Amino acid sequence: MQQVQAVVAKAKGAPVELVTINVPDPGPGEAVVKVQACGVCHTDLHYREGGISDSYPFLLGHEASGIVESVGAEVTSVAPGDFVILNWRAVCGDCRACNRGEPQYCFATHNATQKMTLEDGTELTPALGIGAFAEKTLVAAGQCTKVDPEARPAAVGLLGCGVMAGIGAAINTGQVTRGRSIAVIGCGGVGVAAIAGAALAGASPIIAVDIDSKKLETAKKMGATHTVDSSASDPVEEIKRICAETYPGAEGADVVVEAVGRPETWKQAFYARDLAGTVVLVGVPTPGMTIPDLPMTDLFGRGGSLKSSWYGDCLPSRDFPMLVDLYRQGRLDLDAFVTEEIGINDVEAAFDRMHGGDVLRSVVIV
Ligand SMILES: NC(=O)c1ccc[n+]([C@@H]2O[C@H](COP(=O)([O-])OP(=O)(O)OC[C@H]3O[C@@H](n4cnc5c(N)ncnc54)[C@H](O)[C@@H]3O)[C@@H](O)[C@H]2O)c1
Ligand SMILES: [Zn+2]
Ligand SMILES: [Zn+2]
Repeated sequence: MQQVQAVVAKAKGAPVELVTINVPDPGPGEAVVKVQACGVCHTDLHYREGGISDSYPFLLGHEASGIVESVGAEVTSVAPGDFVILNWRAVCGDCRACNRGEPQYCFATHNATQKMTLEDGTELTPALGIGAFAEKTLVAAGQCTKVDPEARPAAVGLLGCGVMAGIGAAINTGQVTRGRSIAVIGCGGVGVAAIAGAALAGASPIIAVDIDSKKLETAKKMGATHTVDSSASDPVEEIKRICAETYPGAEGADVVVEAVGRPETWKQAFYARDLAGTVVLVGVPTPGMTIPDLPMTDLFGRGGSLKSSWYGDCLPSRDFPMLVDLYRQGRLDLDAFVTEEIGINDVEAAFDRMHGGDVLRSVVIV
């Protein structure tokens, strides 16, 4: 066991605290990772606010990269010294989804078996089974995905959650490609990643929608061909108009990604897609949210599919090394997602800045 500094949310809505935690030595199938960088994702704020569960205290942080420090018995996939991105989809290989060849839907993903604790022994709940606003964290070895050690830790660590969720929402879940249109509602780290993914896949037009004009500027730099400020105009009408300019007769976008997690923006996505189009919900709703007044005939009449995207339907072992290679080749600008590098004691301030519009990702450098 060793003691390290870490960022913990102790109670609903209370500011996060930097405290000492106990990290057990890795047991069978586990690894201890020395964290190098960890992005601040909106999901961390959801945890702090009680929007995910009530299992306080939470050990926050889950978009991270680092160096494997030690591994437990029976671990062969990684070794001390490996540079890894931490993932929250360590597939089991043996559940019904894995057995039918769809491990991205694994029902029994692995996390560390042992618990990290506060100094007084209180068990911590690591965010998404990771907990990486910490000098070191204990994970299942399968949560460590080896990638090119030359890559910048702050940039590639973001593939561990938000950026992968966005890219995958467009490419894996939405399956956009050349000749297909896409609109993305909400252009934070996740939404802009969906735009970057759509650009990689050759989709056109790529329509960015946000209520913050600064976010729209960033979206343009990352590949958006059109932008819509939905605080000033009706996004559904605008998306329909732009798509019809490119594809006469189109009644919306082939794929609309909702990257906010609110009923009103999901409804915009629903009505802004073309007939037989696809809605991809990647934004995370909070308990209690409902979609009121949706006529069933609209659900039926438009055909197509309404999907949710967990983690961009990614398979870390397949997707992380591939995306790191594209980054290293200059074809995926992961550096552009890193707005600022901050210290481990600056997470609470980063939550405040999240609402300000200037930040795509604050990344804690440990
Ligand atoms: N499904 C997954 O696997 C997964 C993974 C990571 C994050 N998420 C979720 O994705 C969502 C976005 O995360 P993020 O880190 O990009 O958050 P963020 O706060 O950086 O971005 C949210 C964006 O939505 C915009 N927005 C807010 N209200 C809007 C409205 N009414 N219309 C249009 N735009 C609006 C904001 O201006 C901001 O640009 C969150 O709900 C987060 O929990 C999901
Ligand atoms: Zn499985
Ligand atoms: Zn996240």
